[in-house]
Amino acid sequence: MRQSSLVVVANRLPIDDSVAPDGACEWRRSPGGLVSALHALLRHTPATWVGWAGGTGPAPALPDVDGVRMHTVALTADDLRDHYEGFSNATLWPLYHDSVEQPEYHRRWWEAYQRVNQRFAESTADVAEPGAVVWVQDYHLQLVPGLLRALRPDLRIGFFLHVPFPPPELFMQLPRRAELLRGMLGADLIGFQRSQAAHNFAQLVAKVLDVPATDRRIAVDDRVVRIGAFPVSIDTAEMAALAARPDVADRASLLRRDLGSPEQVILSVDRMDYTKGIEQRLKAYSELIAGGHVKVRDTVLVQVAVPSRERVGQYQILRERVEREVGRINGEFGRVGEPAIHYLTQPFDRAELAALYRVADVMAVTPLRDGMNLVAKEYVAARVDDTGALLLSEFAGAAAELPQAYLVNPHDLEGLKQGLLSALRAGPDDLGERMRAMRTHLHRHDIRAWARSYLSALDDSGSLLTRLG
Ligand code: UDP
Ligand code: G6P
Repeated sequence: MRQSSLVVVANRLPIDDSVAPDGACEWRRSPGGLVSALHALLRHTPATWVGWAGGTGPAPALPDVDGVRMHTVALTADDLRDHYEGFSNATLWPLYHDSVEQPEYHRRWWEAYQRVNQRFAESTADVAEPGAVVWVQDYHLQLVPGLLRALRPDLRIGFFLHVPFPPPELFMQLPRRAELLRGMLGADLIGFQRSQAAHNFAQLVAKVLDVPATDRRIAVDDRVVRIGAFPVSIDTAEMAALAARPDVADRASLLRRDLGSPEQVILSVDRMDYTKGIEQRLKAYSELIAGGHVKVRDTVLVQVAVPSRERVGQYQILRERVEREVGRINGEFGRVGEPAIHYLTQPFDRAELAALYRVADVMAVTPLRDGMNLVAKEYVAARVDDTGALLLSEFAGAAAELPQAYLVNPHDLEGLKQGLLSALRAGPDDLGERMRAMRTHLHRHDIRAWARSYLSALDDSGSLLTRLG
């Protein structure tokens, strides 16, 4: 067993096991912001990534990915159903996103959550060098810090939550709320996207566990656990360089032509998730067309909606509703060769995404609730000529850092329509000023700055930071 002094533990590995059309097994990049952020950070760093490879059955042996060692944790079909689809994505995910869909509570799901967290903790204990730094990620693994500390008290353990952490009135619904809080408190440092989340956590620790807690420090079992906000980011320079590449620029011109050379292109890129506000956005767009404010010949919407968590009922229902609505809007307002919405469900690679970002005059990122939203940051990074408008939900973590975006409340249909119109009609000077300010912010607060601030708080010796460069 090879051991590492930096171990990242996440439910997802950066590559995902999928089946090719001919039935053969193929590997592809995993979806979502967690993988984008950690992959960008760890590339060519001597680290081990402990995670799940997307399938069921015995753990496949994976090659290193860009120099990072992959250590696979196997899930059975029951684990997949009850831990991943059940407790993680039908209990915690909706609850942590303002209960925009109803969370479900089942005792069998909780048992699976404990069992899978135990397995992750044991796998991590096997691969971590003595005294290693272990960085546990996200809501699927909230018990791992506590379980791992019991197995390996020599480790320095961090935990980071990529999604929002809810206010007490929502979290209190959870039947096993005390165990989840205690699990997280096994860490030396607990990071959240926003300071409000750290505040919610401190309040809950005081209320549920009767342990005095501030928004910065909690004394528990003769240890001090620190908490704080560390907003995750992107590799800004890399996205800017990609977007500036001549082949990407050529691809962007071709895409614009293929879209019918409209005056303006609105783009949205989401996982197909009910937190992303896709239905509200479609409604706003269709009402703008119906009201004569937007003409399909001049303005098109490109909606990328990559299927996600496809066996979870709420996701299946969402996909059906979105596809029905896209069909209705195209049927009602499109013409032959001129659809109102270009609807795409296949995942795009980085270069194709960069080309799409270059084409988009308005990027519409309007989730009902989102921990951060890296797509919003990627769009800004790709607008190297300081053109384009970002329409951004107040309820995305990114809104706290990008106040120069056109901020909207996606629950307010009229506000959403107005925001979209303002973004479409803005003049170049206004756009340039806003985009410049946002790009400057993201060049300062990129993925390395995120890791530096988190890991320097976690690892007092500073040795890890030297290695991350
Ligand atoms: N993404 C991608 N290809 C796609 C759609 C999305 O690579 O076709 C990436 C996107 O670039 C971003 C991530 O998936 O880095 C989505 O992260 P975000 O924080 O926006 O949302 P999440 O999916 O994590 O909720
Ligand atoms: C969000 C979560 C990640 C997750 C990603 C994709 O970003 O915070 O933990 O990996 O969505 O979701 P999936 O269920 O496909 O891993």
